[in-house]
Amino acid sequence: MLISGRGSNLQALIEAAADPAYPAEIALVLSNLAEAAGLDRARSAGIATLVIPHKGKPRDAFDAELDAALKARGIDLICLAGFMRLLTPGFVEAWADRILNIHPSLLPAYKGLHVHERVIADGVRFTGCTVHIVRPEMDAGPIIAQAAVPVIDGDTPETLAARVLTAEHRVYPLALALVASGQAKVVGERVLVEGATAAQGFLVNPAG
Ligand code: GRF
Repeated sequence: MLISGRGSNLQALIEAAADPAYPAEIALVLSNLAEAAGLDRARSAGIATLVIPHKGKPRDAFDAELDAALKARGIDLICLAGFMRLLTPGFVEAWADRILNIHPSLLPAYKGLHVHERVIADGVRFTGCTVHIVRPEMDAGPIIAQAAVPVIDGDTPETLAARVLTAEHRVYPLALALVASGQAKVVGERVLVEGATAAQGFLVNPAG
């Protein structure tokens, strides 16, 4: 897992992966910032951590260090969770279909930063979060799972972010399980989920 900060999605995945039936194990938590609070969550859970600072390095040199560290540990899948660095196309291509990201909007709407401010300003009634396979373009790539939440009159970016975050903590463990188990596969530029029924859906209603 690659993080830069708080690590609440990391925490959700740590808790999901504690179930012996969960199809993935968190082998490493890597941060570009030594002060990322998520590193303490990993340490408390007994998970290996590593800091690779990005400061003062060209992007490809940083990504080459990442690549070497991940390969040295036999990593199969990379989960980005609040990792605030754009990865180079070369890195993304080398790990094609093996990098997941979570974004706090219903992609392809509201890519980038300050999502909740823009959602409120536009007056949309629903927003949510998306777990997707990473492509070189920011916040783009085949969608694995999404969760929708309502935007409520009087919401501030903070209240809306909190509602979306609760949904993130449900949808990321689900999406990673689908990919790690081999149930979800990229076909063309879409994710197909083997044996998915309409009732299961991969739009998660957080109230459900
Ligand atoms: C989440 O809102 C995620 O969608 C975005 O960055 C935030 C990370 O939060 N990419 P946390 O570090 O997992 O608490």
